[in-house]
Amino acid sequence: MQSHPNTVFINQKKFKVLLRESEIKQLVSNIAERINEDYFGKKPLFLIVLKGSMFFASDLLRKIELECEIDTVSAKSYGNYMKSTGEVNLMISKLDVTGKDIIILEDIVDTGYTLNKLIEKLKFLNPASIAIATLLSKPAMRKINIDLKYIGLEIPPFFVIGYGLDFSEFGRNLPAIYSHEEE
Ligand code: IMP
Repeated sequence: MQSHPNTVFINQKKFKVLLRESEIKQLVSNIAERINEDYFGKKPLFLIVLKGSMFFASDLLRKIELECEIDTVSAKSYGNYMKSTGEVNLMISKLDVTGKDIIILEDIVDTGYTLNKLIEKLKFLNPASIAIATLLSKPAMRKINIDLKYIGLEIPPFFVIGYGLDFSEFGRNLPAIYSHEEE
């Protein structure tokens, strides 16, 4: 059995466990199973949104039974705070996506600004299709409506860390996911 502390402190903020490793594993398996079915006979291109999605992507992709390509994009929107800045920096200059079935792998969708900007840019490169797989979604925080084809779990509007998700770059290495609920 895996065990995790129930609380952790990152930059003097207290976070409580929200999802344990076994629960995350189940969410990832569910998404992989659906993608394996939906894309049977296709050769999708998985686009990992760095840095937060790296743990999700690495676990999910090892459960994908399709012939597929993998590429990465870097996105940054949170800066050093717990709220989205609304400004999104994306680096997608060298992507070869024309005619491909893209599946974007995202750790969490909050306001939707990051994915909205990424999708806008990708459309200019003429892919065959674009779908999104996100481990977590905070629907109460959404500012832009985004069509999320695969969602691991919808969560309340808490700030979460662990399993790739950071608070000012710390906390990514935690194997479980922890949440900070404003008092
Ligand atoms: P959005 O553009 O507001 O949808 O935010 C998307 C990005 O912000 C995600 O890819 C994360 O990197 C980051 N983010 C959103 N919510 C959280 C959170 O609760 N913890 C850590 N990072 C988050």
